[in-house]
Amino acid sequence: MGKVILTGDRPTGRLHVGHYVGSLRRRVELQNSGDYDAVYIMIADAQALTDNADNPEKVRQNIVEVALDYLSAGLDPDKSTILIQSQIPELTELTFYYANLVTVSRLQRNPTVKSEIQMRGFETSIPVGFFTYPISQAADITAFRATTVPVGEDQEPMLEQCREIVHKFNTVYGETLTMPQILLPDNAACLRLPGTDGKAKMSKSLGNCIYLSDTPEEVRQKVMGMYTDPDHLRVSDPGKVEGNPVFTYLDAFCTDDMFAEYLPDYQNLDEMKAHYQRGGLGDVKVKKFLIKVMEETLAPIREKRHAWEKRIPDVYDILHDGSMRAEKVAASTLADVKASMRINYFDDQALIAEQIKKYGAR
Ligand code: TRP
Repeated sequence: MGKVILTGDRPTGRLHVGHYVGSLRRRVELQNSGDYDAVYIMIADAQALTDNADNPEKVRQNIVEVALDYLSAGLDPDKSTILIQSQIPELTELTFYYANLVTVSRLQRNPTVKSEIQMRGFETSIPVGFFTYPISQAADITAFRATTVPVGEDQEPMLEQCREIVHKFNTVYGETLTMPQILLPDNAACLRLPGTDGKAKMSKSLGNCIYLSDTPEEVRQKVMGMYTDPDHLRVSDPGKVEGNPVFTYLDAFCTDDMFAEYLPDYQNLDEMKAHYQRGGLGDVKVKKFLIKVMEETLAPIREKRHAWEKRIPDVYDILHDGSMRAEKVAASTLADVKASMRINYFDDQALIAEQIKKYGAR
């Protein structure tokens, strides 16, 4: 058994820098590390439909946006299999069998589901498909026999739930499914990058995101408008770096050599933070530096995106090809699952022989 990565995103919008530092950057590194036998990256359109049933067009439009973001961020279709969830029917079948191993109360306790139900105002009428999406996500992970799932902190409860399903399945039906491990970002700032307004989460509906596909002017305006320490009124005032998103973004994006290049007044971020805390360092200077730091990451991504945008038919070929390859793997896992559950009736010579004996025919 090799080392296999699976992770994915819901195609409900273009990807933003929170997605990038939370998971996408890591995926590209892991893909290029050569340490993994397979890397599967899923565009989770079926999951996106669990709370967008009335708007399939939004999901449909965003599949290519997410694919463009993937390719421009450095996912390489020669090294990673990029697939569209809905094109792998085996995932739905696995979900149906796993659903028998999960209780309603366990799903109700899933903190991510709980907070998403609140955010969407679903309290009084939760779509069943939405409520059960953690089970479908367990199917996504196990279908590809993933050992490693690189995701942001918000996905921790999903991985917990998946591991419980794997354990239960293997206990009831015999060792079949691979137990996955979560891989969280090691940099605390990347666990959950705040919005530009300082709110805990970047979200399209709050309008506080910087997108990987934003123009340099959009990035500049968003950074210059970022929330900082509200008590840092004059340059000479001491400032706070905790809870100050400008510094959280620097934590996530900046390296020491960027100081040498753009702001040689400091050797590293610690020195800059110390100056801000003691007073005498203005927000504008910090923000201008942050723009340069972010452009180090964003400019090459933007450039690659422009090239891929001219190759839309190739993008669809990549997705089609990836989905076909992925389906073969999922089909083989499903066959194992059915064999372990002993619902592979037509392959089961022992069962047929048993029935012949029972009825005494020959
Ligand atoms: N739930 C994930 C998100 O909202 C997307 C996703 C779907 C996923 N299936 C997955 C992530 C399997 C990791 C593994 O971002």
